[in-house]
Amino acid sequence: MSRESGRHGDGRRTPVLQLDKVVKEYDGDPPLRILHGIDLTVHQGELVAVVGPSGSGKSTLLSLVGTLDRPTSGRVHLDGHDLTDLNDRQIAALRASSIGFVFQQFFLLPGLTTVDNVATGLLYTGESARRRHERAVRALREVGLAHRLDHRPDQLSGGEKQRVAIARALVGRPALLLADEPTGALDSASGQGVVDLLLHLNAQGTTVMVITHDRDLAASFPRQIGVQDGRVAFDLHGDTRTAAVPRSAQGGPG
Ligand SMILES: Nc1ncnc2c1ncn2[C@@H]1O[C@H](COP(=O)(O)OP(=O)(O)OP(=O)(O)O)[C@@H](O)[C@H]1O
Ligand SMILES: [Mg+2]
Repeated sequence: MSRESGRHGDGRRTPVLQLDKVVKEYDGDPPLRILHGIDLTVHQGELVAVVGPSGSGKSTLLSLVGTLDRPTSGRVHLDGHDLTDLNDRQIAALRASSIGFVFQQFFLLPGLTTVDNVATGLLYTGESARRRHERAVRALREVGLAHRLDHRPDQLSGGEKQRVAIARALVGRPALLLADEPTGALDSASGQGVVDLLLHLNAQGTTVMVITHDRDLAASFPRQIGVQDGRVAFDLHGDTRTAAVPRSAQGGPG
């Protein structure tokens, strides 16, 4: 079974992510219930858009999926692990190896070059600095930024910053790439570049889950999960992937 194909030899697909009656409440009197028992499965190789109104619980859901937070009740299975069974240290290790995050605001380290920012995504691996550097360069080439290795974040455009953030998220080959409004801070052309890159990475086998307000973006994805008032309101599977991959993404970025 390979992570790339997401299939066993017999054709069964492997779940990367499984949520079982996941509830999230915040402390209060009474407690504030944000997620009301979410059931959800995402398989290897999927490209999923999560849509829904502001305040519906999308980012809360992503932080549970990304192991940044634990559910109040219910179970999260990630990359073959039931998170309930793991302590905080084990979860941090699993997060480092299995999840790549991309956020609207990039969160690059301002004093570091592009390549050093990406190499931070490999600190947990214990690899040598030289090896991390090599892998970071390769990841930057993959996102079309081989010509910006020594720039610092303040010397990059918004779209370039987001591509650096995507390279950092992907450099460790995570099972799941999570993106919360990755195009939210970008103009439409740069945003389209990021979308094309996500489609390209997915075509290469990366499982991607993207939160977006952008209806057109969501509609171009093969699966859309609608969240409303902390519940899954719809889960649409369309066979749109081939049509959705723009020509510019098919040959790879850059
Ligand atoms: N730490 C917290 N304590 C209490 N309530 C919270 C906390 N974090 C989030 N919330 C509430 O949970 C609800 C869901 O928030 P969440 O950030 O998941 O929404 P969202 O769907 O991502 O919205 P947006 O599209 O605006 O980003 C909101 O009503 C928010 O006020
Ligand atoms: Mg949000």
